Amino acid sequence: MASHKTIILGIETSCDETASAILLKQNDRINLVSNIVASSSHIQAKYGGIIPEQAAREQVKAIIPVIKEALEQAELDPEDLDALAVTQGPGLIGSLLVGVETAKTLSLVWNKPLIPVNHLIGHFYANWIDSNPSFPCIGLLASGGHTDLVLFESHGKFKYLGGTRDDAAGECFDKCARILSLPYPGGPQISKLAQKGDPKSYSLPRPMINSRNFDFSYSGLKTAVLNLVKSMAKSELVKADELSHLCASIEQAIIDPLISKTIQAAKRFNINQIIMAGGVAANQKLRVELEKNCQLSINNYQLSIPPPYLCTDNAAMIASAAFFTDKTIDPLKLQADPNLSLAY
Ligand code: KG4
Ligand code: ZN
Repeated sequence: MASHKTIILGIETSCDETASAILLKQNDRINLVSNIVASSSHIQAKYGGIIPEQAAREQVKAIIPVIKEALEQAELDPEDLDALAVTQGPGLIGSLLVGVETAKTLSLVWNKPLIPVNHLIGHFYANWIDSNPSFPCIGLLASGGHTDLVLFESHGKFKYLGGTRDDAAGECFDKCARILSLPYPGGPQISKLAQKGDPKSYSLPRPMINSRNFDFSYSGLKTAVLNLVKSMAKSELVKADELSHLCASIEQAIIDPLISKTIQAAKRFNINQIIMAGGVAANQKLRVELEKNCQLSINNYQLSIPPPYLCTDNAAMIASAAFFTDKTIDPLKLQADPNLSLAY
C-alpha cells in the first residue's frame, strides 16, 4: 500500500528575511524539499539595525520570486501542495503583512487550506525536520527578539517556564556589536572574532544566573560592555587581540545563563530531552558547550539542535510546525498579529 504523503509550502516574513520552503511528510518523517531565504540584512548592516519600512519594501519585491523558486527547486506545481503555512506573528507588522496577505491570496487562488503559525513555536519545530525529538522536552528559544524556556508535554501542548525581562540574547549580541562598531547582525560577527580570544580576559556580569526562576536579563551586560568600552583607550580596542578577547568574554557572558537555566529546568522537571532553537542557537560555542553540559550531567540529557541554517529565520520551520496542527483558518479571516507570544 502506498504510504501517505503530505506536502506543505511555508512562508515566513516576520523580520528582515523573505522565505519560502517546501516540506514533505511521509511515514512520520519530515524532509526538506526546498528552502529559499532572501535577506535584506546587507542593507540593514549599513544602518546598524533594521529599518522596518525598508525591510517591508524589500519583502514586497522578493516574496513572489522566492515562492516561485521554492516551487521550482522542488520541481512541484501549486496543485501538488496539500496546504500553505504562514507566520502570523510575532514580528514587524509591515513585514508580517507581506507574508500573511500573500498567503491568504494564494490560499484562495490555489484553493489550498491555510495554516497560521506562531513564529516562536515555528523556531522549535526546526527540530522536527529530519529528526524526531521525544516528549516531554525542555525547549530553549534564543533569538534576536526572544529568550524563552518552555516545557513541551506533547505537540502543541506546552508550559511557559520563563523568559527575558529586558533584552533578548540575540539583541544583546547585536547591541554589543554596535558598541564595538561591528556590522549588524552582531551575533555572527562577535562569535567569529571570539574564536581567537580568551573568554576569561574581561570580567562581565551574568545577571540572574543564580536566580531561582527561569528568567533571564541581558540589559545589564550590554551596559557593562558600554561602560567598559568607554573606559578603554581607542588605541587598545583597535588591537585585534584585545577585540577578540572582549568578544570572547561577551560571548561567554551571553551563553552561560542560557546553558545554566536550561540544564536547571531539565533537572527541576526531571526531563531527559532538551531542544534548542532560534538564531542564537546557530552559535558554535553555545552548541558545543550545551552538548558538553548535557553529556557531563549524570542524567545524560538528549540534546536536539537544528543545523545552523535552520536556526536563523526560515520558512522550513513554519511548514514543519504546520504538520503538527489541524488549525486551518478561513483565509479571509486571518490577520497578522505582531504581539503573539508564548507566555499565556
Ligand atoms: O531567529 P532569528 O534569525 O530572528 C529572530 O527571530 O529574532 O535570530 C536573529 C538573532 C540575531 O540577534 C543574531 O545576531 C543572532 O540571532 N545570531 C547569532 C548567530 N547567528 C545569528 N548569535 C550568535 N552567534 C551566531 N552564530
Ligand atoms: Zn526568528
